[in-house]
Amino acid sequence: MIFAIQAKRLPGARGKSLAVDVLQPEQREPGPSLKRQTRILAVGGGKGGVGKSFVSANLASVLARAGYRVVAVDADLEGPNLHTCLGVRTTRVGLPDFVAGREDDLGKLVLETPQPNLQLIAGTHANLDQPQPGHRRRVEFLRSVRQLDCDFVLIDLGAGSQTATLDYFLVADEGLLVLQPEPTSVENAYAFLRAAFYRRLRLAVLGHGARNLIRVAMDQRNELGIQSPLDLMREIEILDPIEGHRLVETMSSFRPRIIINDVERKEDIKLGFAVASVCKKYFGIEAEYVGYVNHDGSVRKSVLEGRPLIEYREDSEASSYLQRIARKLIESPS
Ligand SMILES: Nc1ncnc2c1ncn2[C@@H]1O[C@H](COP(=O)(O)OP(=O)(O)O)[C@@H](O)[C@H]1O
Ligand SMILES: [Mg+2]
Repeated sequence: MIFAIQAKRLPGARGKSLAVDVLQPEQREPGPSLKRQTRILAVGGGKGGVGKSFVSANLASVLARAGYRVVAVDADLEGPNLHTCLGVRTTRVGLPDFVAGREDDLGKLVLETPQPNLQLIAGTHANLDQPQPGHRRRVEFLRSVRQLDCDFVLIDLGAGSQTATLDYFLVADEGLLVLQPEPTSVENAYAFLRAAFYRRLRLAVLGHGARNLIRVAMDQRNELGIQSPLDLMREIEILDPIEGHRLVETMSSFRPRIIINDVERKEDIKLGFAVASVCKKYFGIEAEYVGYVNHDGSVRKSVLEGRPLIEYREDSEASSYLQRIARKLIESPS
């Protein structure tokens, strides 16, 4: 089945420019005749241990096996382990070299993995005193990532809602939200989405009044009684219809795609639809449920062997679900 996904010309990567972190299309798209566009997928989820690295490693592996050139980036500088998932035992360089300014060329940090077509920028060797990149470095990172010589970049994000994590998720062509069917994961995923939503909004807003409203609404117990991001958008539209309309348009490009991982029961599968409908009701955004992956006892063994599950047990059910998700991402970019 894996070979059903053939490498073909990729649909244009659109990339979402943030108002402040200006990544204008003309700066990063040399045109189809010069270079195939690199598509960036960022894998987040708010919570640790839900399978972000598992999903990142395996989607990267599926795409590489299908003939795409893939670079997987470990952006979890506080808990880097993507290299282990991909079987890279020694990492002489990594993203922390770029973050700390020791290396300006992201391309020089790319390491080979045992799998053809699949390369890695590791997250190891971070200086824990300065684990997160500043504003300028984030913008430079996002610009450089687009220029990597490959078809797909998979960014494996850390847990939590640090600014860098939010920005990478927002600027990616696809922000993939991984959840486990557990209340804690669902809770943290909503908190992550809420933080990402407000970050996007704050970067896009121009008017003074709307900016104040956003500031007030970020406090969940605000005295204006703004309960949800959707309420906030309505308030902005009342205050300043032109700004409100513009922000609604901007936020319509915020379309996270949902993956439920570690599914054990039939009911778990439905969680993806429930999350998508809450996104609509609470945030006013369209979030697509792109698929689920079942719990598979071989995952641990595959990590021990340093091979993505898709390589280790290609015929497993979980591998077929991962392939199905990859196919969706290739065939219908959001
Ligand atoms: N579908 C699954 N079936 C079984 N184990 C899984 C599955 N997904 C993830 N795991 C295991 O759960 C643990 C956490 O996964 P990981 O990808 O490291 O999470 P995160 O990157 O979100 O912190 C790892 O030990 C991983 O092997
Ligand atoms: Mg991880």
